[in-house]
Amino acid sequence: MIEKIKKTAVIGSGMMGSQIAELLARLAGYEVTLVDLTDELVNNGIKGIADRIDRFFVSKGKLSPEERDRIMGLIKGNADMKAVVEGVDFVIEAAVENLAIKKEIFANLEASAPQHAIFASNTSYQNISELAAVTKRPDKVVGTHFFNPVAKMALVEVVRGALTSDETTETAVALSKKLGKEPVVCRDFSYGFLANRAYLAMVKEAVQMVWEKVGSPEEIDKALRLGYNLPMGPLELFDFVGGWKIAVSSEQDEMREMGPEKGKLHPLIRMMSRAGYTEIYPFWKDALSKW
Ligand SMILES: NC(=O)c1ccc[n+]([C@@H]2O[C@H](COP(=O)([O-])OP(=O)(O)OC[C@H]3O[C@@H](n4cnc5c(N)ncnc54)[C@H](O)[C@@H]3O)[C@@H](O)[C@H]2O)c1
Repeated sequence: MIEKIKKTAVIGSGMMGSQIAELLARLAGYEVTLVDLTDELVNNGIKGIADRIDRFFVSKGKLSPEERDRIMGLIKGNADMKAVVEGVDFVIEAAVENLAIKKEIFANLEASAPQHAIFASNTSYQNISELAAVTKRPDKVVGTHFFNPVAKMALVEVVRGALTSDETTETAVALSKKLGKEPVVCRDFSYGFLANRAYLAMVKEAVQMVWEKVGSPEEIDKALRLGYNLPMGPLELFDFVGGWKIAVSSEQDEMREMGPEKGKLHPLIRMMSRAGYTEIYPFWKDALSKW
């Protein structure tokens, strides 16, 4: 099936969508159309791709200006999703992490895309099976969870929904490899799939240690960095990627999936958020360390 892919589309031209679209054109040589709510958002995504290619490739002599122009010629943008997906073979949805919005997108894809098209989602936490259930092709719906920054991070989690076929899974694996990634296949109905789920457990324990004042965030991160050879500690990484904000906004989703015991926000994060902080290091420095 991978051989039959010619035209691709990415829904959502934000941080992840624009980076995924870049790889589809730059590494796989596919035509790719970026879709977002407005032309301005689409154009921002395309401009981001052009800037990255200039900065990381053309200015370093890794791509010629002609190669840049050829790659950029493969990338189009459109706010009209219906028109875009009419002739498409593979769609990756990378819109906001909101189940209702994603379901609406999948229903609209079903209405306009050809029968053979595969629908993938870059969701970090939502169930692929729930997205598949709003389509008439649950066997052709799969998760392709890329990590940020997309060009740098090797992992793609290929997530099988309850009804995802072997052929669709194999196509998603092959596509990930074509984009220079190391895919792992996992099952649906795991909040955070493999990597985020295990990582979140570590973050939660680290937060509990801050709460108990076993150590400062610096000491906890240093212990994990040096003790387990991690490039960044869990708390500094969560500060860096804006993880606390996501944790606050997705508490209901997490409770639904993990149950109240595991899913409920730690009181420290609730307190931090209500005090107007989105990062734990400054909150520790300004408030917690003084208590
Ligand atoms: N940011 C990360 O580090 C990261 C890492 C892995 C996976 N993800 C997942 O990738 C997805 C996108 O995340 P992001 O960080 O790129 O978000 P983002 O906010 O940067 O971009 C999301 C884009 O989706 C657009 N959008 C919203 N509703 C839409 C609709 N109905 N149709 C088309 N576009 C629509 C928004 O306008 C926005 O441009 C989420 O599911 C997220 O969980 C994010």
